[in-house]
Amino acid sequence: MDFVCEVLADGHDTSAFASTQQELDDWLRKSARDSDGRNLTRTYVWHRGDGAVVAYFTLMPYFIERQTLHKKQARGLPERIPCYLIARLALDHHLHGQGLGSQLFASALTRAAIGARDLGGRYVIVDAIDEGAASFYRHHGFEPIAGRADRLVLPTKALDPYLPRSP
Ligand SMILES: CC(C)(COP(=O)(O)OP(=O)(O)OC[C@H]1O[C@@H](n2cnc3c(N)ncnc32)[C@H](O)[C@@H]1OP(=O)(O)O)[C@@H](O)C(=O)NCCC(=O)NCCS
Repeated sequence: MDFVCEVLADGHDTSAFASTQQELDDWLRKSARDSDGRNLTRTYVWHRGDGAVVAYFTLMPYFIERQTLHKKQARGLPERIPCYLIARLALDHHLHGQGLGSQLFASALTRAAIGARDLGGRYVIVDAIDEGAASFYRHHGFEPIAGRADRLVLPTKALDPYLPRSP
């Protein structure tokens, strides 16, 4: 199935979006536009051409403290390490279990890969909302940091396969 992927805008309808995580659904409906408008985050949505949102992810620049990382993750790095945070990611529950979550995640990683290629940034960070989400991220190669099992990272040098063929 093909979806249109766009930056969240006023014409998108988020009213029917339901991912199974109320907190993520509420944030999309109530806070995402304001956060984007203030350039704190950037939210991308999927729809079928009709504007009705069926998936979204939110990215933002971020710093992580070296002391929160495992030794091998922190080696040679400064106190505050520039990164990208995938702050939120969710797919409507009607679409779960068909490989679309992986496609959505790949789309978020492509944005982070472009950012890292053009601006630098050492890691992509994800914060898992529960153990199921942590397991999904581990399945995609992410590893927990030392301080928190729900925060996982992947070096941006691993993102080359996600870069688009042409800029
Ligand atoms: C997390 C989410 C995006 C995954 O989407 P999905 O459609 O259910 O997952 P997919 O069908 O795309 O699964 C793709 C791959 O991930 C694996 N996977 C899916 N959920 C997994 C889990 N909980 N643990 C481990 N692997 C998982 C699948 O086995 C599949 O592996 P494969 O490609 O090797 O066969 C979706 O369940 C969701 O939106 N959940 C609610 C919001 C949420 O938890 N967001 C996480 C951010 S905090």
